[in-house]
Order: sequence, then structure tokens, then C-alpha cells
Amino acid sequence: MGKVCRLEINGNAISARRGDLLLDAALLNGIEIPYDCRSGLCGTCRVRVLDGRVFGGKADAETVYACQSRIVSDLRIDVEDVPETVTLPGVVADLTPLAADTCEVCIEVPEWPEYIPGQYYSVQFRGFPARYFSPTAPLDWPYDETLMRFHVTRLPNGRVSSALGKRIRAGHRVKLEGPFGSAYLRPFHGQRLVLVASGSGFAPIWSIAEAAIKMEPRREIVLIVSSRRVASLYMVPALCRLALFPNVTIIPVTSEAQDVTAAVRGGKPTDHLPALTPHDIIFAAGAPEMVRAVAQIAADAGAECYSDPFEVASHRTAADLWSRAADWIANKPLVSRPMSQRRQAAAQYAGT
Ligand code: FES
Repeated sequence: MGKVCRLEINGNAISARRGDLLLDAALLNGIEIPYDCRSGLCGTCRVRVLDGRVFGGKADAETVYACQSRIVSDLRIDVEDVPETVTLPGVVADLTPLAADTCEVCIEVPEWPEYIPGQYYSVQFRGFPARYFSPTAPLDWPYDETLMRFHVTRLPNGRVSSALGKRIRAGHRVKLEGPFGSAYLRPFHGQRLVLVASGSGFAPIWSIAEAAIKMEPRREIVLIVSSRRVASLYMVPALCRLALFPNVTIIPVTSEAQDVTAAVRGGKPTDHLPALTPHDIIFAAGAPEMVRAVAQIAADAGAECYSDPFEVASHRTAADLWSRAADWIANKPLVSRPMSQRRQAAAQYAGT
């Protein structure tokens, strides 16, 4: 039998054998550490090591994935308080194309479950395998706040995404389980938020941006959104909402050259990151290679970075969308408005 170690998790003392997985030790002793994948991928079981050492599962300098960390000494662990994971039934209420490759799926649930912006759910359409999606805020007004909204990228051979609008239509039954994940909004009062999204990774980023600006309408936010083509930047209405705030910088980026609008820059999201400092809080969601690149730059700068990698379109053309949005995002009509009006607009928005 291995050496017995003393663990203190959120002030609760338990014993565990050296070599045991931290997650198992906690669960066996009746201490809830949220988890999902048990393979170090989803980040749900991320905990902070206040004192002591573990082997493996390192997430960053202070946190580890409990499902991958083996106990090697006495430990003091802090587990953040997150909403309890629940399973609930839902029904597809609406499917809205956002761009050629992205669809908004609205699901009616008996009651909105408790969740923190940035977290995600397992969504299983009846007869299909479960997939992970983040609930997000509506892109535009007017909207129905009672529905859970998800952005889904249509993959040509996707078992689930290619069935949307065909075998999966309004009325289709859904099972939701969650929330999961560790890349959620915490009360980082006053710190600059740098939010980076590619593709439908915009869903968690938009829910974080929307909640953050409601909490602190004057906080500084830099939002970088990217896609391959300008036609896939489906989030234009949301960018217009954020453009009301003088303290928000919006940087749309496409990897392919385009001549639709000068408001969209070329290159990769990382080409347009502002100089980061240890005081910044970074969130990245979307293509795993982009997320890793952002996380590395944040780590080099000593900034906290949160990410849950995602694998990730409309009847309106890109030119239609950008003819209205370019001025907003470039702040042309807004800078000519007095600052007091912009603040007023921001305050109105924050109250919605
Ligand atoms: S449960 Fe540990 S990372 Fe997913």
C-alpha cells in the first residue's frame, strides 16, 4: 500500500494514497470536482494547487487537470464553485443559417439551466451522437431570451451537422448535459479582456463578451474574430452591438485576401494580438492550432489564458453584411457622435 497523503480540498480534509489520481481520490471521498472527458482534454476538472505536488496533468503554472494528476505529496487544492452538471430535455425550436458553413440552433428547454458564459454542454439530438457546443447570446435584436442558442459549423461529412435542416428540424428532441469546461468568465474586475475566436468558436467568446460588458460596461475589451473568408464572418450583428462601446476594440481577420471591406484585416489572429501584459486576461476558442498559438503568446507574456479547444454561415451576402457593418466597426458614424451619446447607448445595451 502506498504512502498515505493528506489532501485538503476547499478546506475539507481527506486521505488518499500516493499515486492515486486526484480526481478519483476526491470523488471516492465524496468531494465533487466537476469532470467530463477524464482524458485531459475538456478542462472541466481544472483545479488550483495551493500547496504540495502532483505528477502530470499540468494546465499552467498554478493549475492542473485533476483527472490526469497523480498525488505525490500532501496537497492543498482549491476547486472553483461552478454550477452543478444537470441533464435536461429540449426540443429544437429553430434552425437559422448564419453563413454558408454555420448554423444557429435554438433549443427550447423547460428552464434555462445555470451556467457561466464560456462553459459548454453535451448536446445530443435524438438518434445522433452527442456533440459539444457552447450556449451563446443572440447576435442581434429582437430576440427570444428563453431559447438556448448554439452555433454549429456544418462539416461536409459531419454525422450531426450535415443532418441539420434535413433529419434534424424544428420539433426534434434533444438531450442536454452540462455545463462543462474551464474557460468561463470569472470576476476579473477592471482587467483588460483579450478575446480571440475563430469560426464558431465565436459562440463562447460572444457569450463572455456580452456578459463582461453587462457587468462592467467601461472595461477594456479587445475582440479578434477570424475566419478563412469574409463570408464566414457571420457574427457581424454582434460586432455592431459591441461597437457601441468606446472601450471595445474589434478586429475582424480573414486568412484569405478579400476586397469586400477595408474593415477586415488579413492574416492570422495572432498577427493582430495587442502587446499582452501579466494583467491581461485572454480567452481563445476555435481552431486548436490558433488556440495553442494564443495560449503560448499569453504564457510568454505572463498573462492568464483560458481556452477549451473547439472544432468548428447565410442567405445574406458578405457584401450585404459589410456594407452596413464596416462603418460601425471602423467607428466612422460613431466617432462623430458625442461621447455622452455613445456612453448612453452603451448603458442602454448593458441593461438589456
Ligand atoms: S475531465 Fe479532466 S480534462 Fe476533462
